[in-house]
Amino acid sequence: MRVLVTGGAGFIGSHLSEKLIQQGSEVWALDDLSTGRLENLRSFERHPHFRFLEGSVTDSALVNGLVAQCDRVYHLAAAVGVKYVLENPLRSLITNIRGTEVILEAWAEHGRKAMVFSSSEVYGKGVSVPFSEDDDRVMGPTHKLRWSYACGKAVDESLAQAYWQQRQLPVVIVRCFNTCGPRQTGSYGMVIPNMIVRALRDEPILVFGDGKQSRCFSAVSDVVRGVLMLADCKAAEGEVFNVGSDEEVTVLELAERIRRMCDSRSPIEFVAYEKVYGSSFEDMRRRVPDLTKIGRFVGFRPQSSLQQLLEITIRDTCERMGLAYPVGLAAA
Ligand SMILES: NC(=O)c1ccc[n+]([C@@H]2O[C@H](COP(=O)([O-])OP(=O)(O)OC[C@H]3O[C@@H](n4cnc5c(N)ncnc54)[C@H](O)[C@@H]3O)[C@@H](O)[C@H]2O)c1
Repeated sequence: MRVLVTGGAGFIGSHLSEKLIQQGSEVWALDDLSTGRLENLRSFERHPHFRFLEGSVTDSALVNGLVAQCDRVYHLAAAVGVKYVLENPLRSLITNIRGTEVILEAWAEHGRKAMVFSSSEVYGKGVSVPFSEDDDRVMGPTHKLRWSYACGKAVDESLAQAYWQQRQLPVVIVRCFNTCGPRQTGSYGMVIPNMIVRALRDEPILVFGDGKQSRCFSAVSDVVRGVLMLADCKAAEGEVFNVGSDEEVTVLELAERIRRMCDSRSPIEFVAYEKVYGSSFEDMRRRVPDLTKIGRFVGFRPQSSLQQLLEITIRDTCERMGLAYPVGLAAA
């Protein structure tokens, strides 16, 4: 099978591409390298079943040409990360809505399966934790651009549903929750890589707000496994699934744990959201997925604990920074 992975040079896209190649697929990765990096492709870029194409998912001529030659698409290309989206709201909306429209339009011509990556952000400020796929969404006002990413992803989901219902395009929508692991950078506001780098440098670890907000961080290997299980499940077509981990941790606990594991002398510094994201910023207190549905359809359960995820990510960061593994990590 030849598959197109949009956003293939990104964090999740590169892990997915690597796994698909290992499983025997031929992978064509399309990426405009806006946040993706060629470095993410190093371990498999020379594989005979891999091809990298630099370009945008909003380029319909390019996308049409590629789609005609592929059997399946994993559509991950998107503007991602709170910091990036707030700094580039217009580009983010165009990429995330127009890009998905172009992909689905081209794909519908051929009627082959499309896996569309959405986000737990679509649940917005909902408080009925854990979030399940049928829950109502609770969004802030439109002028608070923090919600524009969630709105864009929700439009993507509705577009995919419309193509499924009206044009019989087989689609599966995956709502990823916070995903982490090797290759992720902190440049666009991702919390774990930011904290690890600061801890390894003994710089202050920044905790936004009071640190009592909680998240569930999933290993990228688990997310890739869940997505591939769904891709092979006929009954999953036309459905939306939470994918991630349900092990909850507060951001303050996370900072303390990373500091301990990195054997770091970093102080923990609380920073008001307004200072980082401006006065209109809103956040959600808890974000926990209900994994019942994906468990029922394909038997998925996350395999990596948060501890294992942090260990592997700290090791990867040390290797990239040319540092020895911390003593605290060996003892953990
Ligand atoms: N990482 C997470 O915690 C998380 C959580 C929820 C959802 N997701 C979703 O998973 C997908 C992958 O996210 P990621 O974490 O790997 O982020 P990432 O930024 O590493 O990957 C996105 C990739 O898309 C590429 N891209 C952006 N605009 C493009 C365009 N117009 N044309 C072609 N390529 C373009 C970027 O260069 C990048 O390589 C995204 O759709 C994201 O919304 C990620």
